[in-house]
Amino acid sequence: MGQTLTEKILDDHLVEGELETGEEIGIEIDQVLTQDTTGTLVWLQFEALGLDEVQTELAAQYCDHQTYQFDFKNTDDHRFLRSAAGTFGAHFSRPGNGICHQVHKEHFAAPGKTLLGSDSHTPTPGGLGQLAIGSGGLDVAVAMGGGPYYIEMPEVVNVRLEGELPEWATAKDVILEMLRKLSVKGGVGKIFEYTGPGVETLSVPERTTITNMGTELGATSSLFPTDERTEEFLSRLDREDVHVDLQPDDDAEYDDEVVIDLSELEPLIATPSMPDNVVPVREVAGTDVEQVIIGSCTNGAYEDILPSAKMLEGRQIDRKTEMIVAPGSKQASEMLAREGWTAEMMAAGVNFSEATCGACIGIGHVPASDSVSLRTFNRNFEGRSGIEDDSVYLCSPEVATAAALKGEIVDPRDLADDLGDLDAPGLEMPDEYDGSTTDLIAPDEAVDDGLVKGPNIGDVPLKDALEADLEGPALLKMDDNITTDHIIPATQDILMYRSNIPKLSEFTLSRVDESFAQRALDTDGGFLVAGENYGQGSSREHAALCPMYLGIEGVLAQSFARIHKANLFNFGLLPLSIDEADYQQIEQGDDIEIVDDVDEAVRSGQEEFTVRVNGDWELTATLDASEREREILADGGKLPHTRKQYDAG
Ligand code: F3S
Repeated sequence: MGQTLTEKILDDHLVEGELETGEEIGIEIDQVLTQDTTGTLVWLQFEALGLDEVQTELAAQYCDHQTYQFDFKNTDDHRFLRSAAGTFGAHFSRPGNGICHQVHKEHFAAPGKTLLGSDSHTPTPGGLGQLAIGSGGLDVAVAMGGGPYYIEMPEVVNVRLEGELPEWATAKDVILEMLRKLSVKGGVGKIFEYTGPGVETLSVPERTTITNMGTELGATSSLFPTDERTEEFLSRLDREDVHVDLQPDDDAEYDDEVVIDLSELEPLIATPSMPDNVVPVREVAGTDVEQVIIGSCTNGAYEDILPSAKMLEGRQIDRKTEMIVAPGSKQASEMLAREGWTAEMMAAGVNFSEATCGACIGIGHVPASDSVSLRTFNRNFEGRSGIEDDSVYLCSPEVATAAALKGEIVDPRDLADDLGDLDAPGLEMPDEYDGSTTDLIAPDEAVDDGLVKGPNIGDVPLKDALEADLEGPALLKMDDNITTDHIIPATQDILMYRSNIPKLSEFTLSRVDESFAQRALDTDGGFLVAGENYGQGSSREHAALCPMYLGIEGVLAQSFARIHKANLFNFGLLPLSIDEADYQQIEQGDDIEIVDDVDEAVRSGQEEFTVRVNGDWELTATLDASEREREILADGGKLPHTRKQYDAG
């Protein structure tokens, strides 16, 4: 039986397991990327692994999320990241040089290679045949150290593209149509592989808009085959040497199929506040628009901004609408400036931002209250723009620009009819990409003498291996559905301590019990007790790392959220399931003692543990863990476990 393109790339990189849907596989990682809000912890963890040098073919550190440096702690983070990249052998992209996915596409993305990144839109270079996956920071640190990355083999879905896009329909409409059809949960546990005659009608920047926003489908990754257009794109970047022809076999078998006829697409828009609330633009035409932003890792490329510039040439945007352009990279910015397009857009009333994520995560350009903002971004979750009751729509640059010209949402086809002289800009590729590269510092150009840590940057705490005896007080008893936000709040004033674990730990579970962190330190640890679904929410590693720093040994809960449970293993905390009657009977402050030889029991695969409470009654708790998770847990977490593996050679 033939292979899908996904299977071919995974097969080339497989170090453990078999390519059977749902089975755990370990793959070798060729490239890694990190950004500024996740990168500090990645490097601190890499340092804690005790390695001198990045082991992957390539690593790149970007500074894109918090480039405005509104506090010295941000600037210190950027300086630390530069010094870490130089010390350990990664490329460093300076603040303002651009958004990680755009800059990576321009300089490093390579067909057939694997890429792991500590950012959810890492799959972007799937548009040029790279198998790219987003993950937690510790996985990235371990991959940089040469360790495999483990995932469950996803389903591979064939997305067959037929026909060709009509005028005014764009790549953004392709992925919005996917979201309309499949919803934000439609891609969980899946890789979308694009095939069919429609593929060759799309340029690489169009393909990467689609693969970028595959993340909003919940997909593990999205992938295009390579062809002459890929080779041509790489040669314009002066990187044709990395091109390889990649196609699925003719008789490849997919787990599922979706067909999209490009010729039937029309301009679409995601209405507030979910990327899958997709309707044709004409259905919401006439809605007043106060703000329009073009940019982000989805639509911030030169090829995304040029159509907007052409539409604005010789025209003025509406007086009550603000329009901001935040290019995805400085290279795109520089090319538009050299060609005179920046001046044209400014004359039309546009404000330019530095190349940054910024507004995409509510840093700058927060919309006015009770107003509509049209953005070319990938997410419009409620409150993400920086104001609680926001009203953010997601669309193509063409639809956003049409709205800026009219001051209200308008189907660009209708605007063209009204104006009479507005042509569909279509897609134009530059002859070559020729921005300066002074903002990219290669590993052999390091400018710092070793790691530079400001006062807010500490070390990553490490846990000792499990011992035979484990006991301590039930320090906190919680209800059902405790979220990672309850464990470590994500507000700006707290998250600026993400590289300072002792300080950040002071806020652990403060939303549940303000005195918790101090009590945990005073008693030198103990246990947490919780009801159902403990740790739901995000993949935030700090929600396991900070309790570990405070000395917490384990969590006794009725059930755990999947990702948080994985993080508990990664940081060496014992996740034990208990039944409801026992949960009801345990009181905060009770003495908890695990009767079994804990180290021995965990390593040997024992599932049931006897827990003695206050020395006078016992309950049975369950440990549900794979062999690999048990080894990690027993060694004190993934960092000490990986270190031990390195030491063993
Ligand atoms: Fe940045 Fe928003 Fe993309 S935060 S990486 S532009 S999703």
